Amino acid sequence: MSNKNSFEPLEIVKTKESLHQHLQSYRNDRLRIAFVPTMGGLHQGHIALINHAKTLADMVVCSIFVNPTQFNDPRDLEKYPRPIEKDTNMLAQAGCDVLFKPEVEEMYGQDEQWHINLGHLDNVLEGLHRPGHFQGVTQIVKKLFDAVQPDIACFGQKDFQQFKVVEQLVIQLQLPITLEMCPTVREPDGLAMSSRNVRLSENGRKQALALYQTLLQTKAGLHRKSIRTLRDDAINMLENNPGIRLEYFAIHDTESFTEADSLVKNQQLVALVAAWVDGIRLIDNMLLT
Ligand code: PAF
Repeated sequence: MSNKNSFEPLEIVKTKESLHQHLQSYRNDRLRIAFVPTMGGLHQGHIALINHAKTLADMVVCSIFVNPTQFNDPRDLEKYPRPIEKDTNMLAQAGCDVLFKPEVEEMYGQDEQWHINLGHLDNVLEGLHRPGHFQGVTQIVKKLFDAVQPDIACFGQKDFQQFKVVEQLVIQLQLPITLEMCPTVREPDGLAMSSRNVRLSENGRKQALALYQTLLQTKAGLHRKSIRTLRDDAINMLENNPGIRLEYFAIHDTESFTEADSLVKNQQLVALVAAWVDGIRLIDNMLLT
């Protein structure tokens, strides 16, 4: 839908006030705004989100903000890649209209409190293994939504549980925003693209493929094995791999995000995995049905 020429300059704004002013003329003309929030370290998965956003709206805003409140490990925050020049070039080439790139002080006051009831989403899988992570995600996503006021917001399927969490935020606060989930983009060998992949050694990069292979094997077995056997087989395969330290492998219903114990007609299932490879925590998932 966006008919912007790919090489028009990208507008970079750093404050909520200048973003508001910049977007006002679009709003006055009733143009639709799509938003892609990111933490930078951009890869083709992010560019696929920008491309999808362009088909849905008249203009696209992307944010780059490494959000401190969603990191439960300070070392992870410190090591998070911040290749801003490369990111900016990628966004300009992709035809993104506006990059919102605030500093921490622009987004957070002193000792801010935030809590939203995310129910079981906060206590299972990513919620369980990264305490406080989803509170931090919803805190910043709400602030970014307030700043951009988009019609549509695009998120990647790779963070499947995060999508469910943002969906919950939108429902609970009755935000007038349509959420879009875009498929995970993979390297040619199947590894899910992630900003963290650049930190993998050559060997770790090969070992990480076990996550994708296990998900594929699970999907292939769906109509031959029970859900419990599929899950046990996947866990065995990953736990017996010396290069992998498994955190979880689970099969969930995509709607309720509760664990599936059998395959019910018309039910959509997703297999989700998190593991440490080469000192890097990776996640991946695959729709099974
Ligand atoms: O998925 C991410 O990159 C982040 O969690 C998000 C949604 C940009 C919030 O910081």
